[in-house]
Amino acid sequence: MEEWKPQTRAVRTQADVTRHGEHSVPLFLTSSFVFEDAEEMRAAFAGEIERNLYSRFTNPNVTELVEKVRLLEGAEAGHAMASGMASIFATFAGLLSAGDHVVACRSIFGSTHRILSDLLPRWGITHTYVDVEDPASWEAAIRPETRMIFVETPTNPAVDIVDLEWLGGLARDRGVILAVDNCFATPVLQRPLDFGAHLSIHSATKFMDGQGRVMGGVVVGDRPLIEEIFSFSRATGPSLSPFNAWVLSKSIETLALRMEKHSANAMEVARRLEGRPGVTSVRYPFLPSHPRYEVARRQMSAGGAMVAFTVEGGVERGRRFLDALTLCSLTANLGDSRTIVTHPASTTHAKLTEEERTAVGITPGLIRVSVGLEDVEDVVRDLEGALGA
Ligand SMILES: Cc1ncc(COP(=O)(O)O)c(C=O)c1O
Repeated sequence: MEEWKPQTRAVRTQADVTRHGEHSVPLFLTSSFVFEDAEEMRAAFAGEIERNLYSRFTNPNVTELVEKVRLLEGAEAGHAMASGMASIFATFAGLLSAGDHVVACRSIFGSTHRILSDLLPRWGITHTYVDVEDPASWEAAIRPETRMIFVETPTNPAVDIVDLEWLGGLARDRGVILAVDNCFATPVLQRPLDFGAHLSIHSATKFMDGQGRVMGGVVVGDRPLIEEIFSFSRATGPSLSPFNAWVLSKSIETLALRMEKHSANAMEVARRLEGRPGVTSVRYPFLPSHPRYEVARRQMSAGGAMVAFTVEGGVERGRRFLDALTLCSLTANLGDSRTIVTHPASTTHAKLTEEERTAVGITPGLIRVSVGLEDVEDVVRDLEGALGA
């Protein structure tokens, strides 16, 4: 087991609970776990023995999922929760106290933005947003009370890239926690901890599931930090259901294979859209025209599934583009085997002003594509058809 590569270990890891010789792990739909006697129960509650006690705390299916992600990311420890947002909120709430300050990348997922901008200030936790394009501003934003730097890379929806090696060095020099939302890349394309991050966070709802079925979130990283996050989560209850963990754990066994195909399809889509009449720009990490192409090549093993491009003609043209699609799905999710297309300016980011949208790279005609696992020729035909419509 020790000499196996992370991918092999992620495929072969299984909750150690086989009773009937089952090859595939069973589903542990149980709220609690029974004790032999009063002494065992006492020792379990005292934390003197490690065992399952109550599914708000741990459950074999959830533990198995965490172990797989931990192995893939090369992390010391991990914890899974009910959604990506539950994991992000528990990371903030478990590690920050009143008076602490967070430096965050301006282009982050909308709900993360809302936690930082509207919720954490209620408890006296402040933040400063900085721009991906301006590394000097990151250093300047760090104050004595800064406890965490929080970034996404690639970012949602504009597919910007943050240099993790540089940021990992900065975080360690300044003694602050670096937490990375690794949702777009997944652990098989990017391992933030290798570059000095302390925590890597996932919406497991996305590529880890890969078929748009269940919600989930996972955070992995340095053990003392995970213990704090677990302690917060155990008390407050954003627990992952055993069923969702069971689905996600099986899906992780095919994650590497799926990401390879997602990336190949997305690269082809990006190449075919670039320079096409009606398309003013295309963002994909592994396109040489991406402003951080070199950084992406250094820290990611492939470009992933997400492509962002801008159609000429602004918001109305963006909406008409969506209406002209016949294959791609219009839905709020991403990371599915089915290609999904969204228009952030009229949906997820409609509440921002145009100025705020521009600051995070969302042009009026920006289209975000989560390229799926269909035959790529059909996806390209659908996108090209909608561009011509
Ligand atoms: C980058 C990123 N982080 C976090 C989330 C939140 O994940 P969930 O919907 O599982 O709570 C999303 C959802 O789209 C996302 O795209």
